[in-house]
Amino acid sequence: MVNDPLEKFQHIWIQAQQSGLNRYRNSVCISTIDQHGFPNARFVDLKAVSDVGCIFCSDLSSTKAIEIQNHPKVSLTAWWEHVAYQIRIQGICQRISDQQADDFWQQRPRDAQLTSLTFDQSQGITSVDLLESRFLHAKKQDDQQYLPRPDTWGGFELIPTKIEFLAFKDTRLHIRHQYIWNEHHQIWEVQLLQP
Ligand SMILES: Cc1cc2nc3c(=O)[nH]c(=O)nc-3n(C[C@H](O)[C@H](O)[C@H](O)COP(=O)(O)O)c2cc1C
Repeated sequence: MVNDPLEKFQHIWIQAQQSGLNRYRNSVCISTIDQHGFPNARFVDLKAVSDVGCIFCSDLSSTKAIEIQNHPKVSLTAWWEHVAYQIRIQGICQRISDQQADDFWQQRPRDAQLTSLTFDQSQGITSVDLLESRFLHAKKQDDQQYLPRPDTWGGFELIPTKIEFLAFKDTRLHIRHQYIWNEHHQIWEVQLLQP
């Protein structure tokens, strides 16, 4: 068994990206804590898995970004049916560097960049028509030149303190390995859980 659960996560994620038919098959659910103490969950694209954490990107004025700023304890949940794994991570989120954010920004499709530049994610808007006309306007104005990352867009890295892998079995005899980071001994402790 791999001792480093992030390495194991990365391995499963690569498999999940390489196989399967869903277009957005590497998306993961990120849960934050809202102003009333409720969990608030939504899917995002997992951009990278580093040696220390899982990186995703977002508008920095969005609801999720504000909630992360207020409560950096965040969880990530993935269900990749085509590789038959559910993965649950709890940890602490921190902002990635501007340089890293620039790199991820440049990898985004043009339309995604234009959307981020045109809209204030999570704010209200009066109609779908207005939404579409604002985007159309942005497309018409687009001169196809290099688009620098706006200050309002960046990323977060979730540094795990707990990771659980559930290898899904049709029999329901799922194999669950839970890793908990022991801060004192600086090691991951692993336990097999009942299905
Ligand atoms: C498959 C999928 C991938 C998504 N990827 C992202 C993403 O990478 N970043 C992001 O900010 N929103 C992404 N979204 C939109 C979010 O789910 C969410 O609607 C948005 O970020 C606003 O969330 P908030 O109001 O809680 O901040 C994605 C949605 C789906 C369904």
